[in-house]
Amino acid sequence: MITTDYLVIGSGVAGLTFAVKIAEKFPKKTVTIITKGTEDESNTKYAQGGVAVVLDSKEDSFRKHIEDTLIAGDGLCDKTIVDLVIKEGPKRLQELIFWGANFDLDTEGNFDLGKEGGHSEYRVVHHKDITGYEVERALLERVHQLTNITVLSHHFALDLITEHHLEYENPKQLTCYGAYVLCEKSGKTLTIQAENTLLASGGIGYVYGHTTNPVIATGDGIAMAYRAKAQIKDMEFIQFHPTVLYNPEGGSSFLISEAVRGFGAFLRDKNGYRFMPDYDERAELASRDIVSQCIDKELKKSGDAYVYLDCTHLDISAFNTHFPNIYNKCKSLHIDISKDWIPVVPASHYLCGGIEVDSNGRTSINNLFACGECTRTGLHGANRLASNSLLEALVYAHNIFKYHCLNDTNLDFVFIPSWDDNGTSITKEHVIIQHNLRELQALMRDYVGIVRSNNRLTKAITRLDLIYNEIETLYKTSKIDTSLCELRNMINVAHLIISQSLERKENRGGYFNIDNIKP
Ligand code: FAD
Ligand code: SIN
Repeated sequence: MITTDYLVIGSGVAGLTFAVKIAEKFPKKTVTIITKGTEDESNTKYAQGGVAVVLDSKEDSFRKHIEDTLIAGDGLCDKTIVDLVIKEGPKRLQELIFWGANFDLDTEGNFDLGKEGGHSEYRVVHHKDITGYEVERALLERVHQLTNITVLSHHFALDLITEHHLEYENPKQLTCYGAYVLCEKSGKTLTIQAENTLLASGGIGYVYGHTTNPVIATGDGIAMAYRAKAQIKDMEFIQFHPTVLYNPEGGSSFLISEAVRGFGAFLRDKNGYRFMPDYDERAELASRDIVSQCIDKELKKSGDAYVYLDCTHLDISAFNTHFPNIYNKCKSLHIDISKDWIPVVPASHYLCGGIEVDSNGRTSINNLFACGECTRTGLHGANRLASNSLLEALVYAHNIFKYHCLNDTNLDFVFIPSWDDNGTSITKEHVIIQHNLRELQALMRDYVGIVRSNNRLTKAITRLDLIYNEIETLYKTSKIDTSLCELRNMINVAHLIISQSLERKENRGGYFNIDNIKP
């Protein structure tokens, strides 16, 4: 048993930012961060484009950023939240800089601002094309300076502890008392009792297999919150990034940042035809739901596996300065971007929905907060505007911090039973886990992709039930194992995506169902 004042599940931008702020303010309180991989492994680490924020400029304004966010969200954003997040952005960026994050400057010493799809102005602050790496580095450095923070890497959160584990009968209001956590090195299951728990467990990209996300993005936090009966919303809004480097083997794939299109790159079919101006007056810089759906149409029409991103007309030396990581990745694959077009295809990238939270990051369960990509705040609506995600995590980490400064969130002592694994044994059936993982990812890719239909979604539910039953049986009889728990969580997440897709009767933003097309 470990006891802590604040348990933070996840070490990306959301979890680390909250941990730093609360530990700085309350040096006598203990903060425990658990993370299932190495401490830096996260979606955050791979963020390329940057942080969208309005800085002093003649051209830009809060009004324009708010308007761009609302347009991208296709009528489903919560306007109050959009207003709150965007206006708070500059202060949160300054704080990140104060903690040591560096962002690129132009020759006059102003921020070198990038542009991405859906933005009407240049407003994306970045660190070359490895912004997330820089943010993660700076935050971890700050975390290690604070002696009241403990980071437990390779610790996997299994389940949130609520009245369900305390065997209370039908409690009126659920409360979270911490989490059961598997120490991956010792194989032991720990009980971490916490006054307050923050889920900052990131996204779900790996449920689709073909994704820009690293393999840790298995939606564990959302599945845990769902099992604990928290409200989960807008799961049908999966954002597919239009330009992911084509990888014939699928799996986690390298992103070619939207900022490259902001820099002037064109999308072409194999015959060299630039198709985006036919679909949208913003062409390659339409919001990413639109660009992904157009590429999907082109691929279905041609039967090709990918389209191309053409950078050959750009200033390659400037390109290399702005995007050294992308330039070098292409070079390592013998793609010379000064002569060759880059083969690209859309892939799952970001979840706009998730655990429903209020403006203070409070979930529907007492003392359980959530922040970052695992949440549904109302900022993104039906489609997130590029580079609004790091911003959202920074602002919400601050709001949750402020809430704790103003409110007493202490819990009464309760007795928490240890994790019970009586009657289970180490599984010899890893083949079942691997097979079902491949089947789940193929199902999500083929039946629950960019373009959906009621027929495919209904069939997907039927097939998912078979996978669910097989894995639930294995789970109940096996000793806890990370790959089994991740798959179980991915099945929960897939169920939420499919069932909430079937409930949506109109196409909006990133959700497109052929049966919802009005005649
Ligand atoms: P993450 O950074 O994903 O962190 C989640 C953490 O939770 C990880 O440490 C993980 O190990 C841990 N975790 C998960 N499950 C468990 C468990 N069961 N037990 C213990 N720990 C667990 N957004 C932008 O705004 N701008 C960009 O330029 C941008 N570019 C992107 C490029 C790529 C390739 C990708 C993949 C995403 C990009 N995004 C971008 C999106 C953005 O990076 C993420 O939405 C954001 O970083 C999420 O932060 P987070 O802290 O919520 O989650
Ligand atoms: C990108 O750099 O294209 C990703 C930006 C984002 O997802 O916000």
